[in-house]
Amino acid sequence: MTIPVIDFSTLNGNKRSETMALLHEACQKWGFFMIENHDIDARLTEKVKKLVNEYYEKNLKDGFYKSELVKTLEKQEKTFDKDWETTFFIWHRPKSNIKEIPNISDELCNTMDEYIAQLILLAEKLSELMSENLGLEKTFIKKSFSSPNGIGPVMGTKVAKYPECPNPKLVRGLREHTDAGGIILLLQDDKVGGLEFYKDGKWVEIPPSKNNAIFVNTGDQIEVLSNGLYKSVVHRVMPDKDGSRLSMASFYNPIGDAIIAPAPKLLYPSHYCYGDYLNLYGKTKFGEKGPRFEAIKNMGNGHAHTNNNIV
Ligand SMILES: [Fe+2]
Repeated sequence: MTIPVIDFSTLNGNKRSETMALLHEACQKWGFFMIENHDIDARLTEKVKKLVNEYYEKNLKDGFYKSELVKTLEKQEKTFDKDWETTFFIWHRPKSNIKEIPNISDELCNTMDEYIAQLILLAEKLSELMSENLGLEKTFIKKSFSSPNGIGPVMGTKVAKYPECPNPKLVRGLREHTDAGGIILLLQDDKVGGLEFYKDGKWVEIPPSKNNAIFVNTGDQIEVLSNGLYKSVVHRVMPDKDGSRLSMASFYNPIGDAIIAPAPKLLYPSHYCYGDYLNLYGKTKFGEKGPRFEAIKNMGNGHAHTNNNIV
């Protein structure tokens, strides 16, 4: 299976509609895809990966290998309730907590901030394109992910390393799950794989990212907003005997008090009086049902009904 690749450089030219159709299909049928030519500076992504790897070596690695989980695996016992990963979270928007990360250098702080500033532009662009593909206002996802007073969406990053694992059969790097939030943009290792998505009854291995590609998947809130048209897909990380995988998953998510609901435009008409439907049907029987559904939806969900045509 070849994972869809969305080439952002084609969005402004005569290939736009082709690329938009590919994106729509990727969101509907896959729930994950790669983005290439996205304008995020490759030198910046290389630098942020290098600095995070150094941070892991200095601050996280020793602690991880002294953990109870490592001891459990040494006894050759299977582990079902832990993940073979070492992680920390950074919040970027609306308020950054990056300076509170223990032992973080100014260089890593600044590089991460620069990278995230560019990544937010990509996340917003993607949220606009997805809204457009759903036939909604361009700002629909952004507004839905914001609080009633306009704060949001939230941007955060889960930084994770999946250290070399002496016995990868006994544990998962990260157990099977779907993501809770919105749009997830992943900057991942360019050498060590391990990420897998479940599609059509099979686990699809996501290869390490080459050419500065950003891997994207959609979370549960996109599934709800799109009324199930776009799906959040189950995925996991398998640990590796020889490689230590880096994963920086940045989330473009709703803020805590955002009210989430399926876009009304994507819903079937509801709560109308059947008599009204029949009345309309009588006039539109030989037309397409789509416009009829739209018309009945616009009748105020049954409040404007009449009772003189019930059959
Ligand atoms: Fe995930």
